Amino acid sequence: MNLNLTTKKIDSDVEIIIVRNKKIKENKEILEVLKFTGKDEEVVLLPESKKIYVGCESSDEDNIRIAIANAVKKLNTTNYKSASIKCKDKLSAYIDGFELGNYSFDKYKSKDEKDISEDKNIYIEVEEITKDIQNVFEQSVAICTSVNMVRDFVNTAPDDFYPSVMAQEAIKIATNNNLECKILDEEYLEQNGMGAMLAVGRASRYRSKLIHLTYKPSGKKKTKKKIVLVGKGLTYDSGGLSLKPSDFMVSMKSDKSGGSAVLGIMNAISSLNLPIEVHGIVGAVENMIGGDAYKPDDILKAKNGTTIEVRNTDAEGRLVLADCLCYAQDEIEEIDGIFDFATLTGACVVGVGQYTSGIMGNNEKLNNEFIKTSLKSGELACMLPFNRYLKKTLKSEIADICNISNTRYGGAITAGMFLENFIKDEYKQKWVHVDIAGPAFVESDWGYNPHGASGAGVRMTLEYLKSL
Ligand code: BES
Ligand code: ZN
Ligand code: ZN
Repeated sequence: MNLNLTTKKIDSDVEIIIVRNKKIKENKEILEVLKFTGKDEEVVLLPESKKIYVGCESSDEDNIRIAIANAVKKLNTTNYKSASIKCKDKLSAYIDGFELGNYSFDKYKSKDEKDISEDKNIYIEVEEITKDIQNVFEQSVAICTSVNMVRDFVNTAPDDFYPSVMAQEAIKIATNNNLECKILDEEYLEQNGMGAMLAVGRASRYRSKLIHLTYKPSGKKKTKKKIVLVGKGLTYDSGGLSLKPSDFMVSMKSDKSGGSAVLGIMNAISSLNLPIEVHGIVGAVENMIGGDAYKPDDILKAKNGTTIEVRNTDAEGRLVLADCLCYAQDEIEEIDGIFDFATLTGACVVGVGQYTSGIMGNNEKLNNEFIKTSLKSGELACMLPFNRYLKKTLKSEIADICNISNTRYGGAITAGMFLENFIKDEYKQKWVHVDIAGPAFVESDWGYNPHGASGAGVRMTLEYLKSL
């Protein structure tokens, strides 16, 4: 699918009409017969008048995105090669709807089932193509392209996407966007005392990788802020020796979603031309079983010297993140914000549902700012508050801390509070943990998100970075 901006009326095969606030202006009779009233999610194709009508009950941006996505899906059931649509406002929501709604994952489909939308042209008719409009167009396309890239990463089967593949993808992103790129291997982890991350990957036939990408604004632009993004890149999570039950193991290729989101953000960032320095750090690891596996009862030592009693090898993401967070704070000076992204707990999904990310940290104001920009971008997020009582449930009798809490309740929060042990005092108020376990991967389509990976984390973070 090719998106084009135009000021001319294009004689396309079909026209897409968004009916906002149920105001139907033409074809009233036939639409009534077809029971189209302009409600959200309603979509009708009138082949004779060459029109696709979609309902959009409000002019809210997410409503527009969903309406457009529904129109694209309808268009893709036809052989029409071109479509046009008028756009008076909220251009970026239109583009999101097209680019995100049109996504399909066909990597493993045989040829004849492949995407039919590849050769379609979409013309978005605007009144004037100002510099601003052109900018919005280019930036929105860049962001959506990165979201779709993340979706591809996450949907890819675990034996086609393991830590060194993730590292190769990071190198490609760095090359295409002029980023600095460091790939650190297990020897580095060992030499630098990163015993927690190292343990998790021990039973895998794939070697763990720590990926570090850096974006620095070009030219003389003064760097305002320095932001660090850290992602959980578990290319597969079998649970380890605390093995997951079969039904829970299915879809655990999605445990690389946080790391993939960080790569996606780094991919989009240079197109946005932001005056901030951004670091993307990913712990790419596979959690497997075997004679060499780390065990419940093991005591691990993280990079900051903290000793961790392993009581469950399925709580592995926090171990990987612990060392990655330490690495970030040791290697990068004077950080203004640290954000980590992880499919960290099933408890977060139970707590807030599969469409919403859980936002945690010590700084309520910062949490709320992040939530605000997330909602603006179209990603649902809400705060899960820390408290002193849950913090105590992570105590260990023989080490500094346990990797799981001693209570069944509040699992998303206790996981977040585990991570807090690896944040230095000076950064305690500058750190936000984002649990994307729900929205990162949903096994049915929702709005403009497809079955499978959604690319959660990318749009919310870019929106936040733009606001700085
Ligand atoms: N990757 C999982 C969390 C997860 C669950 C992500 C469902 C997406 C969907 C994580 O590593 C895990 O297994 N967490 C455990 C923690 C528990 C052992 C304290 C969980 O949530 O059950
Ligand atoms: Zn796990
Ligand atoms: Zn996991």
